[in-house]
Order: sequence, then structure tokens, then C-alpha cells
Amino acid sequence: MNRSQRKLAHIREAVDQQFPRINSFDEMEIIHQSLTPLNWDQLSLKVDCGELSLSSPLFVNAMTGGGGMPTEEINKQIAFAAYQTGIAMAVGSQTSALKDEKEKRTYEVIRNENPSGVVFANVGSEVTVDQALTVIDMIEANALQIHLNTMQELIMPEGDRDFSSRLSKIENMVKNVNVPIILKEVGFGISKETALQLKNIGVKYIDVGGKGGTSFSSIENRRREKPMAVFDNWGIPTTLSLKEVKTAFPACHLIASGGIRDGLDGAKSIVLGAKMFGMAGPLLKTLVQEGQDELIQKIHHIHDELKVAMLALGAKKVGDLKGSPHVFYGKSKEWIDQRKLN
Ligand code: FNR
Repeated sequence: MNRSQRKLAHIREAVDQQFPRINSFDEMEIIHQSLTPLNWDQLSLKVDCGELSLSSPLFVNAMTGGGGMPTEEINKQIAFAAYQTGIAMAVGSQTSALKDEKEKRTYEVIRNENPSGVVFANVGSEVTVDQALTVIDMIEANALQIHLNTMQELIMPEGDRDFSSRLSKIENMVKNVNVPIILKEVGFGISKETALQLKNIGVKYIDVGGKGGTSFSSIENRRREKPMAVFDNWGIPTTLSLKEVKTAFPACHLIASGGIRDGLDGAKSIVLGAKMFGMAGPLLKTLVQEGQDELIQKIHHIHDELKVAMLALGAKKVGDLKGSPHVFYGKSKEWIDQRKLN
């Protein structure tokens, strides 16, 4: 299977995978408060995440580009929805555009739809500083996401097997790239130990990309002759990954993603210290199956859900949700205790 075919297969399989599922957000509950002092019109969704100023904490996380017309059309439609709703968006890995000039268009198209919105470029940790600068330039990106996807590569039959120079390459990019660099996982989560390694090389932004939503081991397993289904459940659940990173690296600009289903999951991630939250698979499913207008409506609905939680809890600004009283049950509680998470 070539790179383009693989990208299209990922889209099909990721859409198929979006069925209602229980995840770590169900083992966390925010405590209701009955005496809010606020009025709906006072609520503001504006947030700052380090150097990034955003009109909403919600963003469309990295998905696609580089698979010819179908991915160009998806990126175009996501960009238009992001423009209409004022949210940020990431494009999928731009490595293919570094290898094939013709693929550039599938990414560049987002700037026709969304000339001044906040957009994130995306590459793997194997690229050089020059290549990182090229992908940023390609879409005039406001930040660069570098994905860490070891488990996906390992399950992928044709995936990478050598990760030995990764940390030094990331360090080099952090030192030589002049937009914020966000290190992100793709559904397996970031641990305390990894967060510390990233902190030590100067990383300031981490998107935990935890377990609970789209599973790339299960997507890649579908293409293996001998699937390794034992790894379909591998990874750090998103709520716990947020706590892992916050414990090891409290000053980090923390971003939540992985299995966020609605505005309440988003609110829970802000309670846990995230400044933004990203959604990928569920938004793709809406776009592919129901169209662009429905995607725009879904984004508005997620904003409304977030605002209901904010109003109920007396949070005028999104950031005021941070630290709201909450509890964890079951496995999550055991994880937090054994890992001594704050
Ligand atoms: C992804 N994801 C992803 N991430 C990344 O950093 N670069 C990429 O190229 C891609 N490609 C990609 C394709 C498709 C079809 C999907 C659904 C996802 C991972 C994505 O950004 C996110 O980390 C995970 O999907 C987990 O979030 P959700 O889907 O549970 O909200």
C-alpha cells in the first residue's frame, strides 16, 4: 500500500471506528454547584495557550492531507468550518508534501478558506530543521505539531523501526524554529517520564493525545497479516495523561486530546489543567457522513455544552474552570494513587 492509499484507508477506518465508547472521562465527575453568580452573556471562550491567542479552547486536531483530491477536499471543508466558527485547526502530517511537490496543494488549500485563522503544521520527529521550516511556511502556520507515534509505527507493517535519534532531532527543532512547537501523541498518551524528557530539551507545549478515542493500533492492525490485537488497548487514558504531565511539568502549556466526545469532556480536561482541547475522529465522522454544515453545527453545539458547564460552575472565562472540585472513580483512582499524581 503506498502513502496515499494508506491515508485514504486511515480516513475510512477512523470513521468506522467512531462509535459511542466509554473512556476515562466517564471515571471523572465534576461536582455540581448550585449558586452560580453568572449570566450567560458574560461568558467568554477566549483562551491563551502560551504564545497562542485563541477565540476558543476547541481545535480540530491533525488528520489529513497528502492523499490527492479526497484529502484536499476534507482539508478545505475543515478549514471553512474552522473559519466560520473561529476555532484553530491542525493539518495532517505534511511529510508527503516534502517528498512530492504535487501534494503541497492538499495542505495549502486551507489558507484559501481560512486566511487569518490559527493553524498548526504537522510533521514527525524525523524531519530536519529546514524541512520543519518548509512545512510551517507552506500553510503560514502559527505553531508546529511534532507527532510521537511509536506504537503506530510498530504496529504498521511498513512502519519505522529506528527511533534512536529522535530526542536530539526534537531538541534541534525546539532551538531553531521560531513558532511554538507542540509535541503530540496520537492516541497513546504522554507519561510523567516522557514529559520530563521533553521538558529537559526545552519543549513548552504538550498535547497528551491520550487513549480513549481513535486507536491507531487497531487501525494499523487491520492491515497486518498477523494482527497484534494485544496492543489495541495499549496507552495512557487522556484524563490520566493530563495528570501525569501536570505532575512532572507543571509549567507546561498543556493541551488535551484523545477521546474527547463533547463539550463536557472538554470542560473536564480544562478542570485538569489543559488550556485547549482537540478533537479529530468524531469531527471527521460528522464531516464525511453528514457534511460541512453539520460539522459547523456540531462545533457550535460543543461550544454551548462547554458554556453550560462554565455557567453552572461559575466560570466566566474558560480558564476559571481549572481546579474545579471533581472526583475520580475505579481504575482511574487507582492509577492516580499508584503513580502519585497531583
Ligand atoms: C490522525 N491523527 C494524526 N495525528 C498526527 O499528528 N498526524 C497525522 O497525520 C494524523 N493523521 C490522522 C488521520 C486520521 C484519519 C485520524 C482520525 C487521526 C491523530 C489525531 O490527531 C489524534 O491524535 C487522534 O485521532 C486522537 O484523537 P481523537 O480522534 O480520539 O479525537
